[in-house]
Amino acid sequence: MTPERIEQLKSEKDVVMLVHNYQRPEIQDVADFLGDSLNLAMEATKVSQSTILFCGVDFMAESAKILNPEKTVLHPNTEAKCPMAAMIDIDGLRKLKEEHPEAVVVAYVNTTAETKTLTDICCTSANAVNVVKQLSAGEIIFIPDANLGLYVQRFIPDKKFIFWPGYCHVHRDVTPEDVQSMKDSHSNAKVLVHPECAPPVIDMADEVLSTEGMVRFSKSSDFSEFIIVTERELSYRLQKENPGKTFHILERAICPAMKKITMDDVLKCLESGRPEIELPESVIEQAKLPLERMLTISRGEKLKDKL
Ligand code: 13P
Ligand code: SF4
Repeated sequence: MTPERIEQLKSEKDVVMLVHNYQRPEIQDVADFLGDSLNLAMEATKVSQSTILFCGVDFMAESAKILNPEKTVLHPNTEAKCPMAAMIDIDGLRKLKEEHPEAVVVAYVNTTAETKTLTDICCTSANAVNVVKQLSAGEIIFIPDANLGLYVQRFIPDKKFIFWPGYCHVHRDVTPEDVQSMKDSHSNAKVLVHPECAPPVIDMADEVLSTEGMVRFSKSSDFSEFIIVTERELSYRLQKENPGKTFHILERAICPAMKKITMDDVLKCLESGRPEIELPESVIEQAKLPLERMLTISRGEKLKDKL
């Protein structure tokens, strides 16, 4: 009954549901659009509905609001907060900027709206290397995920990177031994790793990809077996879209923040129109620029300002 009721409410209330690849399977099943952080931010700028119901963590729903301030953006559970985004302290970031006045601040989208107001350009796991490659600055303050920053640095060794000591606990906790044991059991499988993992795990990858990158790669690959080194719920979509292929996951790689949102939350949110993402106008104005710069690069266009 609930999925039918959700569909009915979406159509009655002119709501589109954007859902991240780590959400619970039953929520993925009622999505209008499923994707990674980049896809969802881009899709949020294209939808025609007056309301976006965002099932993902807080920073994703905030980005949808910043890019579409005229729309109502609903986030069904305010407890769904990415702990990595909370690792930035604003005063510490201000101080770091003062210490490196020439540096460009590149913020992973996994940051709060307030943090984005202090940054020059955003990136996601899908476009981080490309974004930093487009910058002419020789010095980069990369926040908050040091592992993603270290991965980007491999491709751009001539720039100086200053890292924030942030991390995603779900990906950082994957060890090389975990991956080796999966490789030993499934020697024909391709190893797909998310760039939030630590360097020794990245070194074991056949491909380093965002979650949507993993979806695309496994669909188009001639291989039929994959070891998926990221949050385990991605495997639900991978298996659903590739019934003839096999996906091996690390069972304990669970993001509790992503699992806070339940079907009941979605239903209540659709019925009540709450909780809604509300941000001060000044924050929206300042946080929009780094997000829009990122989208400009992702569309293959040149940045208007020199960074
Ligand atoms: P993706 O953008 O690759 O889906 O990653 C988001 C995220 O939170 C990874 O932990
Ligand atoms: Fe944040 Fe990691 Fe969860 Fe992604 S998987 S939402 S980075 S805690």
